[in-house]
Amino acid sequence: MSKEVIQLGILGLGVVGSGTVEVLRRNRDSIERKIGARLEIRRIAVRDIHKPRRVPVDRSLLTNNAYEVIDDPQVDIVVELIGGVHPAKEYVLRALENGKPVVSANKELLAKEGADIMMAAGKCQLDFAFEGSVGGGIPIIQPMKNALAGNRIERVMGIVNGTTNYILTKMAEEGSDFDHALKEAQAQGYAEADPSADVNGHDAQYKIAILASIAFTARVKVDDVYCEGITKITRADMEWAQRLGYAVKLVAIAQEVSAKAVQVRVHPALLPLSHPLASVRDVYNAIMVRGDAVGDVMFYGRGAGSLPTGSAVVGDIIDVSRNLLFGSTGRVGCTCFDQRYVVPIEQIETSYYVRMRVQDRPNVLAQVAGVFGIHNISISSVVQRQVNPQEAEIVWITHRAQEGAIRHATAEIRRLPVVMDVCNTIRVEE
Ligand SMILES: NC(=O)c1ccc[n+]([C@@H]2O[C@H](COP(=O)([O-])OP(=O)(O)OC[C@H]3O[C@@H](n4cnc5c(N)ncnc54)[C@H](OP(=O)(O)O)[C@@H]3O)[C@@H](O)[C@H]2O)c1
Repeated sequence: MSKEVIQLGILGLGVVGSGTVEVLRRNRDSIERKIGARLEIRRIAVRDIHKPRRVPVDRSLLTNNAYEVIDDPQVDIVVELIGGVHPAKEYVLRALENGKPVVSANKELLAKEGADIMMAAGKCQLDFAFEGSVGGGIPIIQPMKNALAGNRIERVMGIVNGTTNYILTKMAEEGSDFDHALKEAQAQGYAEADPSADVNGHDAQYKIAILASIAFTARVKVDDVYCEGITKITRADMEWAQRLGYAVKLVAIAQEVSAKAVQVRVHPALLPLSHPLASVRDVYNAIMVRGDAVGDVMFYGRGAGSLPTGSAVVGDIIDVSRNLLFGSTGRVGCTCFDQRYVVPIEQIETSYYVRMRVQDRPNVLAQVAGVFGIHNISISSVVQRQVNPQEAEIVWITHRAQEGAIRHATAEIRRLPVVMDVCNTIRVEE
């Protein structure tokens, strides 16, 4: 395809749409030289064409009818930045049917409907690029699909949600409780008015489903990803973790168990302070990938935000433009050609932190230890602190044990008359 101008049709001019337009404006000359053609924004679809915008745009480009963008024969690439599954899916499929490659930053769409979209793109031999969907500005999709493609990926582990990392950092460093840290995150613009997708772990769940599908060359469904958020983490857990030499982080883990089985999970975890992810603070994200040939590789940066995500989207636009010009779209298609079984959470094995409140009297430790023993759980360390003359708090760190055994043991411990409460159980990742 020989073209002097590549025309973009953008759907959405919110946080990411504005960042994308700003990056294109700022670095226009060098971007166009890198592509070897001019880039023009032909149309932008929004919900409300009268709303003030974060970036200067020619108002005549705006429309509230997305089909005026998708069906415009002059548009070469459609950039989907509206979010959500519907109507984003319908728009993306229509763009592909119209012969237009698509760039998207939509993690929910990818995680839930990726199979249909990748199949449609493959059928049309068109690019569907989605770097911005995971890790914001951090390049992770392209490296996994290209530079690391020679490896068998054994494990992906990351901090992939900036909002929860900010909250946990505030709790750890300033002694804030969860509600206070959340309010601060909202005041800073890091958390939405409805923060549930972040604090309940669903944002990270979508992202690890996408990364696991690429890593294990097998479609990992969102519903198969175990997901637990950070709302149960208290100041007491933070204090104990620090005292014992750990950081508390919301981690997303995808791990190969065997040739046929994988585990994929999102939950808070205690990480030893020496762990590379323990020092990832504030809204920063980091993703570690372990390949059989390369070993550990770590990606670090801003996992969200207007310009960082705009950077990832523009990177995709450049890549897709080059492919268009060289007539090589659809080169890197869907790589989910295997079937892998996702192991239920009860079958995973890790270490555990268990915090409980007990009556402060003789033989309590022995009774609790006895229950752990019955369930074949051995103890790595135990620390006790007197709360008042009648009550003590005990924290147990176990050796590796099966999750199912821990669940049965803690349920049984909760029923011991000497135990007032099992306050929290948190996985420990070494
Ligand atoms: N925010 C981040 O830091 C970030 C990071 C990585 C990935 N992402 C992903 O990027 C996507 C966009 O997120 P965002 O934060 O930019 O969202 P946003 O700020 O809410 O912006 C959404 C934009 O889409 C427009 N829109 C919504 N529905 C539309 C429709 N049916 N037709 C036409 N326009 C429509 C809205 O129009 P109006 O402006 O007129 O309301 C708005 O401009 C999502 O998939 C998100 O998951 C976001």
